[in-house]
Amino acid sequence: METIAKLISDMTLEEKAALCTGAGPWVTTAVERLGIPRMVLTDGPHGVRRTEDLDVIAAKSKPATCFPTASCLSASWDIDLIHEVAEALAEECIALGVDVILGPSNNMKRTPLCGRNFEYFSEDPYLSGELASAYIQGVQGKGVGTSLKHYAVNNQEFQRFSIDAELGERAFHEIYLAAFETAVKRAKPWTVMCAYNKINGEYCSENYDLLRNILKKDWGFEGLVVSDWGAVHDRVAGLKAGLDLEMPGPKARRVQAVIDAVNTGDLDEAVLDEAVRRILEIVFKAQKTPKEATDFDKTAHHAVARKAAAEGMVLLKNEGVLPLKNPASVAVIGRSAKHPHYQGGGSSHINPTQVDSPYEELQKLAPATQFSYAEGYGEGLEHNLDLVSEAVAKAQTAEVALIFVALPSIIESEGYDRNALELTEQQINLIKSVSAVQAKTIVILNNGSSVTMTDWLDGVAGVLESWMMGQAGGGAIADILFGKVNPSGKLAETFPEALQDTPAFINYPGENGKVSYGEGLFIGYRYYDAKNVAVQFPFGFGLSYTQFAYSNLKLASKTLKDTDGLELSVDISNTGKVAGKEIVQLYIHDKVSKLVRPYKELKGFAKVSLNPGESKTVHFKLDFRSFAFYHPSHKRWVTEDGEFDLLIGASASDIRLQDTLTLESTLELPSLLNKESTLKEWLEDPKGKVVFDPIFKQMTESFTSSMGVSEEDSADIGMDMMGFLMDLPLMSLLDFQDATLPEAPETIVQGLLAKVQALA
Ligand code: BGC
Repeated sequence: METIAKLISDMTLEEKAALCTGAGPWVTTAVERLGIPRMVLTDGPHGVRRTEDLDVIAAKSKPATCFPTASCLSASWDIDLIHEVAEALAEECIALGVDVILGPSNNMKRTPLCGRNFEYFSEDPYLSGELASAYIQGVQGKGVGTSLKHYAVNNQEFQRFSIDAELGERAFHEIYLAAFETAVKRAKPWTVMCAYNKINGEYCSENYDLLRNILKKDWGFEGLVVSDWGAVHDRVAGLKAGLDLEMPGPKARRVQAVIDAVNTGDLDEAVLDEAVRRILEIVFKAQKTPKEATDFDKTAHHAVARKAAAEGMVLLKNEGVLPLKNPASVAVIGRSAKHPHYQGGGSSHINPTQVDSPYEELQKLAPATQFSYAEGYGEGLEHNLDLVSEAVAKAQTAEVALIFVALPSIIESEGYDRNALELTEQQINLIKSVSAVQAKTIVILNNGSSVTMTDWLDGVAGVLESWMMGQAGGGAIADILFGKVNPSGKLAETFPEALQDTPAFINYPGENGKVSYGEGLFIGYRYYDAKNVAVQFPFGFGLSYTQFAYSNLKLASKTLKDTDGLELSVDISNTGKVAGKEIVQLYIHDKVSKLVRPYKELKGFAKVSLNPGESKTVHFKLDFRSFAFYHPSHKRWVTEDGEFDLLIGASASDIRLQDTLTLESTLELPSLLNKESTLKEWLEDPKGKVVFDPIFKQMTESFTSSMGVSEEDSADIGMDMMGFLMDLPLMSLLDFQDATLPEAPETIVQGLLAKVQALA
């Protein structure tokens, strides 16, 4: 650290300003005179996109393993697996000369229309935070840096460079920041990438509260903040707000603006020095892992990609047709059987080392089965009845029909959103026509985010969601269809019945440059729970070829303080005939709360592997944050006394066991009473009650008599007088009696508030 301080003192103002903006699309500025090397940062997240030519932003990239995208990885709910994928990514970074991989992407899936959902983990901040942490730890454990992105509230592609996300403090902290908070505090990413958009009127790249207060001060982030590529508007304002590194470069005018700002005194040089220190610390940290232009183990990584794909695929429907049992003939229908849609469009696009087609992998796995093929649909949106007829003919004569359906590849991409959730008309027509003649029709979906299925789901016997499953996904599909792998993925995002059922439907995509997050905390299953809206497949849902029984929920204690922590356990048994893995979910339900809370919130999960007849005990730990919510008036996470249900589920809609505990909050929070507080609020506030209770009766009586209505008479004016009074501010109650009071109402209320303060 002493050397970094020395380096900074040796650097000229020009060198320091230059260091804070990239020297090219993918590299930071080197200062050869002082032995400061450049650092290479490239995409990410599910593969290494190292362009052949580092001077060109969208040049062809070197071959690298394309792992499944985040929506598939997240559906594995498997921390160890994500760690393993991340380690492989780091090895490829080292071999390809990359210091920092630009991932993981950790934004919430607010609407299924977001074009980039394939790159994001979940609609739930707890799950996303855990998975992002595993990714970061896996990569960084090998000495390669990560960039946790896109910080924050970047939940749509529509107008992503400028849209102003308007949201309340609770949704901000509990939903949109929480996954970043977990990852920053636990996994300590080397870099955090700030998003393009604005939050409540301020660009993320100039947002002092977001970057300095929350990220650096409250969460203790020690790495560097890098802009998303092109997210900077005012470089000096960015530096002041805590944006250390601007990418991409070069941008001579921006560098000059920083120099001028220091020279005119507009920018304190100490602010620039702090950014320089943070950048240098990461640049030299990266140096500790030499990047060799060697080969990585392509075969081994392909195998990891295959395993990861299989773990993330979700069996959504199975009416006794899967796994396939040596069928004599199978009709393989659908273009994506031969041209799998294994990744999405945009900056995450990987040049794969190889791609396995499901069609070939099926043939390899079942050499005795006769496979036929029909294309079924073209790459675009065109209608072609001939393709449907050909598919129907093949399906009719086979024992089983497998329909591989991928959304046209341009539909799911960075840069723009989807405009519908349905498959294409041609694909819907294809599925309906084939399933009408073939009872054993199984649909294999190939997409990055949810699709709706009401048009065709009832007619088919099976559905496998295989996501954008990466370059080795073809083999993983074959493994699952033939039972070589028992499917164990579960949805990390709800599949709705219709677009209009989704939480952000009325507010998305916004207008006039702004999008209102009107649904607040209620995204994903939190919304469907609250509104009692039926969904196609709930959050946390996924089938297996075996069954699991849940029993013996044990809480270490049923009364606890919020600081105590709680250990609990549940027994899971495989009651079926084949080995399998179950994803057990723990939700909490706060029974009574002063502020609104979602009915259920995920607070724990575990993936457990069981042989037939085997049982295992799964352990969970809860802590302060498991029970807390963010209180906008206290500006902190708080707990309250009261009862919580602990819900153990196989999905958000399939709660198998539950128990109740009583929590005692240890927080000594300042009273929130103020001159607008109602009688009810005075009585509910512990200190307010002490002060107000003794005068409550007298005050309300004198109010009712001054109004000329006794409490008993209140029915005469068609109301419950006490109900009316309880919601009246104390100040207003006194105001009605002003003429009879010895002092002004304001003075009386101020006096009572002072007494409350004195009790503290
Ligand atoms: C994307 C980032 C990406 C960067 C560099 C941006 O447009 O939003 O996710 O890392 O480009 O390619």
